[in-house]
Amino acid sequence: MCGIVGYVGPQNATDVVIEGLRRLEYRGYDSAGLSVRRPEGHVTLKRSGKLKNLEDALEATPLAGAHAIGHTRWATHGPPTDRNAHPHVTEDTRVALIHNGIIENHQALRERLNGAGHVFTSDTDSEVLVHLIEEAYDGDLSDAVRAALRQVEGAYAVVVSHADHDELVVARMTSPLVLGYGEGETFVASDVPAILKHTRRVSYLQDGQVATLRPAGIQATDLEGHPQELEIDTIDWDLEAAEKGGWPHFMLKEIYEQPQVLVNTLSDRLSQSTGDANLNLTLDPSAIDRIVIVAAGTASYAGEVGRTLLERWARIPTTVEVASEFRYANPIVDARTLVVAVSQSGETIDTLEAVREGIRHGARSLAILNSKGSSISREVDDIIDIHAGPEIGVASTKAYVAMVTVFAMLALHFGRARGALSLEEGQDRVAELKRLPNLVADALEGRPAIAAAARSLAEARSVLYLGRGVHVASAKEGALKLKEISYVHAEAFPTGEMKHGPIALIDAAVPTVAVATDGPLTGKTASNLQEIKARGGRVFAIATRGADGLDGAADVRLDVPPVEDALAPVVVAVPLQLLAYEASVALGRDVDQPRNLAKSVTVE
Ligand code: M6R
Repeated sequence: MCGIVGYVGPQNATDVVIEGLRRLEYRGYDSAGLSVRRPEGHVTLKRSGKLKNLEDALEATPLAGAHAIGHTRWATHGPPTDRNAHPHVTEDTRVALIHNGIIENHQALRERLNGAGHVFTSDTDSEVLVHLIEEAYDGDLSDAVRAALRQVEGAYAVVVSHADHDELVVARMTSPLVLGYGEGETFVASDVPAILKHTRRVSYLQDGQVATLRPAGIQATDLEGHPQELEIDTIDWDLEAAEKGGWPHFMLKEIYEQPQVLVNTLSDRLSQSTGDANLNLTLDPSAIDRIVIVAAGTASYAGEVGRTLLERWARIPTTVEVASEFRYANPIVDARTLVVAVSQSGETIDTLEAVREGIRHGARSLAILNSKGSSISREVDDIIDIHAGPEIGVASTKAYVAMVTVFAMLALHFGRARGALSLEEGQDRVAELKRLPNLVADALEGRPAIAAAARSLAEARSVLYLGRGVHVASAKEGALKLKEISYVHAEAFPTGEMKHGPIALIDAAVPTVAVATDGPLTGKTASNLQEIKARGGRVFAIATRGADGLDGAADVRLDVPPVEDALAPVVVAVPLQLLAYEASVALGRDVDQPRNLAKSVTVE
């Protein structure tokens, strides 16, 4: 969740690290800090609040040096204050450390270290690491880091600097770290955008690996000190993809990127002649009896749409499990179960552990991901890349529509392979899938009307989101978008559930957003919406252009173009995203970095 950057080389290390942190601030943003190594010790500056506070402090006190480490924090242990910000430094300033993750046995270690005379200066779990390294240090920093890490339980990505050495020692267990190779310089970061300006050549550190970064190169070992090979990858996307490029917010840029993202997601995977999708899977579709989708947040709502698609098109029984529950549920899965992990970042710890749990029980595994080289990608039998490009806004948008589209291709492929879809049915679906980029572009045209509706939502006490069938998931996704970036309370229900309780909430200050595209149950939805209006509730309906089945049941219609029902979540995602975006802007919220959240949730 935290952002980590480290640099060893001839450039001004502070500049390299601060610029990298700026590109990682989406990961966590409640405090930031930097340590620069000098032979006499480390000079450290830390500030609570956003990175800007640290940058302002650095303007007053510039810190130059040839190697530096920096961190943006998302607090777990101890409030986001200056003293709890990283780096943590020993009393004599000789060792400095930054950490992402949670050290689970920190309490016991802290008590022992206190007893041995170590003085703690923060409330964090991370600080035990710097004292353990100080205790173990005998002239060789990587030896000391390995010795320290052998005593800890939990998750970590750590970067350690010692005043005696022109090197950084880094290590990983569960939390991500990417290493970068330049000419006479090396880099480490939590994510690629932090270092992409300097190099495209990277290695993804693996669990249990410890690496030493020097200007001339990088060497790795395991925790026992045995040498390890690092695979070098080349990043094939450009930094502009992770920049705002004139847009006021990353979220808006990413919403408008969706037509192109869908072109990339579909790429050359569809065949009109065979009515099938080629996803390059090793899995034999006839070798499974059921599917379990594991994911968190928006990815789990994409999974809920995926369940409908897999059941309707491929006739495979499918369930969606919230990853943080599944991992502890002793799940009933076997070798004829396919566990599908869905994740934009590929680093969400709950999703990673959930898919591991499925694999431990003998299930086949597949991951739908947006991140090459991510932790989840290394665990599974098959991967489908959603090709959404870097998503920086904390609210997931383009990744969601790309995930749903991948599920549609998976359902098509399984449906064709298992005989649930005829050639003609497959061809119809291929044709409909190919229309998605244009349909999403069309839906974006509705922004002015959506912005006006959003201003009403911004004033609401609470907003109810409703949907039937595949749009139960759309309603959940719409409600999550609104609450996470505008802080307006929102809840989602299946439309037919209203009369079983939630309708008691309806009054003039509690509007309803009904996802009500045209379908066999539109008449029933219309009745439910009339029941809301009869109780003084205002109804905003996302409806199919030209369809009149709602029969005047909406106060405000936000129309989207007609599309096959099972694919409609891709199109209705646009007004749902824009409603949340415009409400957030109207309320003056921090759209891209909403309070209390982080983009990549690598702790439990
Ligand atoms: O990286 P992941 O897709 O695994 O992330 C899962 C959720 O944390 C994420 O979708 C979260 O709910 C977003 N903030 C929603 O906009």
